[in-house]
Order: sequence, then structure tokens, then C-alpha cells
Amino acid sequence: MTLPKTILITSGPTREFIDPVRFISNLSTGTMGYQLAREARARNFKVILISGPTGLTPLKNVRFIPITTALQMRRMVKKFFSRVDCLIMTAAVSDYRTARSKPEKIKAQRPLTLRFVRNPDILGEISKHKGKKILVGFSLETRDLIKNARLKLKKKGLDFIVANKAGGRCRPFGDNKVSCMIIDKFENEKRLKNISKKKLSSLIFDKISAIEQA
Ligand code: C5P
Repeated sequence: MTLPKTILITSGPTREFIDPVRFISNLSTGTMGYQLAREARARNFKVILISGPTGLTPLKNVRFIPITTALQMRRMVKKFFSRVDCLIMTAAVSDYRTARSKPEKIKAQRPLTLRFVRNPDILGEISKHKGKKILVGFSLETRDLIKNARLKLKKKGLDFIVANKAGGRCRPFGDNKVSCMIIDKFENEKRLKNISKKKLSSLIFDKISAIEQA
């Protein structure tokens, strides 16, 4: 069997606007996705990187698709999915967006109530068209890490998921080391303690290659 040729990676946070100058988002820095893109490039894959806003410099020889919101990310994932052999979603997609972003800057006058609606589950949607493609998800939990990751693995139809713990001393953001579990659809579980994102990226690609060669 040949190795996958083209990889689609999503990275970074999404921003969901409240008004023209304010948004909700999360602490994702894009570091994991960019590191995976570097690893894929080093292994001679063609790489497409769809990234939310980060402070990182776009990588050479990686097709870079910048997006801002979850809906924009969904549009781009749908556009490129048919062209790839593997999708890795590290993006921290905002689960909610405002029901209506205000066209003018909201004035600070009285208490403010905002209504949020659910964003689509991009990975859950696209996995219905999985075919022979390899799908990898990430999850971040402050509790019930393994239970939730197993549920997401099944619900989103993934080959494997990388489950990161957050909270307390675990801050898996930026260049920090991570402690995580890799759980695959055959119920193999590998616990990794305090490893760099570079090392984790390498292990993830080893696993992708093993799946492809099985
Ligand atoms: O946020 P959650 O823990 O469900 O994320 C699990 C996986 O699903 C991640 O790989 C993430 O990129 C993806 N996801 C998505 N669309 C969402 C939320 C998460 O594709 N709306």
C-alpha cells in the first residue's frame, strides 16, 4: 500500500463575533497544527493547513488557508476534503456563535444578554463521507478525559483521537509539553506523559502510516 499523499490539517482557534470589534474564542495558539504540518512536510506529504487566527508565521511549502469563524472553517474543510487522504483536526472550533452579530459596536450602557447558537460539528459532519480516508481528532477536557474521548471517537467516526487534559497543572497550550492519550477505533490506548508537540506529531504520523499500511 502507498502512504497517504495529501493531508488536510486544521489548526488554531475560531473567533465568533459579537459586534464588529469583539468576539469569543479560546486559548488555542495553533502550535500543534503547525507542528503537525511541519512533520507532514518533512515526510513528503502535500499539506493543506486551514488555520484560525494565530501569531504563527505561515509555513513554506504548505498550502495555507486562513479562516476566522467556525462556519468559514467548515466551508474550507468541505472544499478540500475530497482532495485529501487524511484529515487531522487540531482546531479548537468554538462550539457556539452569537445568534446575531451586531452590525454596530455595542455601547456599554446597561446589562447585556447575548444569545448563542451551536456551531456545526465539522468533523462529525465530514466523517459521513469518510470512505477510506484517515480521520484524526483532538479533544481537550478538564474532566472525564478518557470517557469523553472514547465517546467522541465513536460519535465522530474517527480512526483515532488525541485526548489532552486541561486544568490544574495541565496547560497544553503554545509550546508547553503535553500529557495525553491516543485512543484508536480498535480500543488501543497509549498514554503519553509530558512530551513535546514535536515528538507527539512524529508519533501521530507513525500511527497514520501504520493504519495506511495495515
Ligand atoms: O470540541 P470537541 O472536543 O468536540 O472536539 C473534538 C474534535 O472535533 C476536534 O478534532 C475538533 O477539531 C473537532 N470539532 C469540530 N467541530 C466542532 C467542534 C469540534 O470539527 N464544532
